[in-house]
Amino acid sequence: MVAIIPSELTQITLLLLLFLFFTVIYQPTFALTSNKELAKGFTATVDSSVKLFQPLLSDSVGNYSFGFIRVDQTQLAVGVVHVPSNEPVWVAGKSYLTRWSERTSLLFNGSLVIFDKHGGVLWSSNTDGDRVRVLGTSNLVIEKVGESKDDDVILWQSFDFPYNTLMENQNFTSEMTLVSSNGLYSMKLGPDFIGFYAKFDPDSNPGHLYFRHNPLEAKASVMKGQGPIRVVLTSDGFLGMYQNGSTPVDVQPFSSFQQRGTGNRLVRLEPDGNLVGYYWTRSSWVVDFKQISDVCELPSSCGPYGLCQPGKGCSCLDNKTSYSSGKCDIGEIKVSSNDFCQTKYKVMRKTGVELPNKEILDYIITSSLEKCESACEQNCTCWGVVYSNTSRFCYTIDYPIQTIVEVLDESKLGYFKVRYSPKNDKKVVGLWVGLGLLCGLVLLLLVVRGLFLYKRENRGVKGYVEEDGVNSGVGPYKNLGSSSFKSIELSERWRKQ
Ligand SMILES: *[C@@H]1O[C@H](CO)[C@@H](O)[C@H](O)[C@H]1NC(C)=O
Ligand SMILES: *[C@@H]1O[C@H](CO)[C@@H](O)[C@H](O)[C@H]1NC(C)=O
Ligand SMILES: *[C@@H]1O[C@H](CO)[C@@H](O)[C@H](O)[C@H]1NC(C)=O
Ligand SMILES: *[C@@H]1O[C@H](CO)[C@@H](O)[C@H](O)[C@H]1NC(C)=O
Ligand SMILES: *[C@@H]1O[C@H](CO)[C@@H](O)[C@H](O)[C@H]1NC(C)=O
Ligand SMILES: *[C@@H]1O[C@H](CO)[C@@H](O)[C@H](O)[C@H]1NC(C)=O
Repeated sequence: MVAIIPSELTQITLLLLLFLFFTVIYQPTFALTSNKELAKGFTATVDSSVKLFQPLLSDSVGNYSFGFIRVDQTQLAVGVVHVPSNEPVWVAGKSYLTRWSERTSLLFNGSLVIFDKHGGVLWSSNTDGDRVRVLGTSNLVIEKVGESKDDDVILWQSFDFPYNTLMENQNFTSEMTLVSSNGLYSMKLGPDFIGFYAKFDPDSNPGHLYFRHNPLEAKASVMKGQGPIRVVLTSDGFLGMYQNGSTPVDVQPFSSFQQRGTGNRLVRLEPDGNLVGYYWTRSSWVVDFKQISDVCELPSSCGPYGLCQPGKGCSCLDNKTSYSSGKCDIGEIKVSSNDFCQTKYKVMRKTGVELPNKEILDYIITSSLEKCESACEQNCTCWGVVYSNTSRFCYTIDYPIQTIVEVLDESKLGYFKVRYSPKNDKKVVGLWVGLGLLCGLVLLLLVVRGLFLYKRENRGVKGYVEEDGVNSGVGPYKNLGSSSFKSIELSERWRKQ
């Protein structure tokens, strides 16, 4: 007996060890793949059990990997992630493409092609190359292989089609656009500036300019007619603007610029409209640059009809409304038409307010606030104005009202239109009429029933009265709340670790 126990123990230990080996050591680490290049004929399908990322191809050291990215649990994007942090740094087509489904597939036949579950093409690189690789910079390239290594040509590279992120030494040129993951904001180069655009009105393209960075031109100047500018995030820790040659016309240093080494930086256009720089500390990404440093200068820091109070935070333009769960519910009715000649609106006024970044906005000069307001009142596409009683500048807002900045100067006034539907008033009236009718009906029923019982009792018949139909009258009210249900915006954000 005594001799058997140890051997049993060793058997159990062995089994346990084997179990550990298979669960811990042999657990497929999700971001590892042995593929260093894809050749013609490569195909892959989505694995439905994958939680975050399904790698298909990695760079030579495994810092970056290309594959299927799961977004918000149900959506699928195809792109390149930074493996240690699982952050997407590039996605095909600037968006998620379809739902996460195991019938979605990828093919490399010279082109990288992604098919939906019905075999339709969701995205294609439209190339005729020989192989696909991920370079150490995160750049996904499709190459034509030459006679010798030197004859290899890059036919297509993801660096030419950035999404919301710029990587080190990636050229950002005037042909390119960065788009925030919620699709609201974009960054584009002008002839001599970096422009940031907001698309609060879906019909406007590219939207209105909400911020602009002009070069300092300390060491070199932008020359007219000398070609377009480009912007590069350098390994030395600054965002440089160049025109010709390697002398920058502008340098925006990051707080981590003393940190040496390559492959540790990125800048991203975030869903709040800010361009933010990050430094990889080998365990996390830390912020080391913000293009717009003052929160109140962001285009919509407190949401629509919000009021940003410098140093204090958010409240609402309408002081009767409290700022809760990140927005101001001022009772605005969302209607498809932005035409104020077709839509009913009320007017909201506020003193001591200013538009964010008013320095870059157009204005007209009017002799009085009344003239400034009436210009807007008569304009079907005007959402509001902000007027300065001292400078007489009248700023027109021609997009849905976003966040306004509070200032101590009471001579700065705002006039804002709020869409509302008079139908709503009718609805309320209708509700009362309905309730009245219902009460009347119930009363009538009670009287009839009373009479009936009275008669029956008089006839001497007892019992047999079923109490039915009492609850049926409440039915129509149970769905009242559901019309206010709003679907969640799926494109909100990439999941942050
Ligand atoms: C690759 O496949 C796509 C989709 O079937 C097709 O449209 C395209 O012509 C093919 N490209 C090449 C180079 O064969
Ligand atoms: C960026 O542009 C410069 C100048 O045109 C060029 O020399 C450099 O190779 C480009 N870098 C990349 C990564 O394409
Ligand atoms: C891989 O990433 C680490 C950390 O960011 C970096 O130090 C290293 O240089 C990278 N390797 C290559 C080959 O770029
Ligand atoms: C709200 O604003 C109005 C006009 O700007 C002002 O007269 C009123 O006192 C404010 N109410 C509160 C509660 O702050
Ligand atoms: C209305 O305002 C828009 C935006 O400010 C402007 O472009 C347009 O010319 C104005 N229309 C009229 C009729 O004044
Ligand atoms: C605007 O300025 C005029 C004269 O400069 C003054 O009479 C008026 O009261 C001011 N209005 C406001 C709201 O400050």
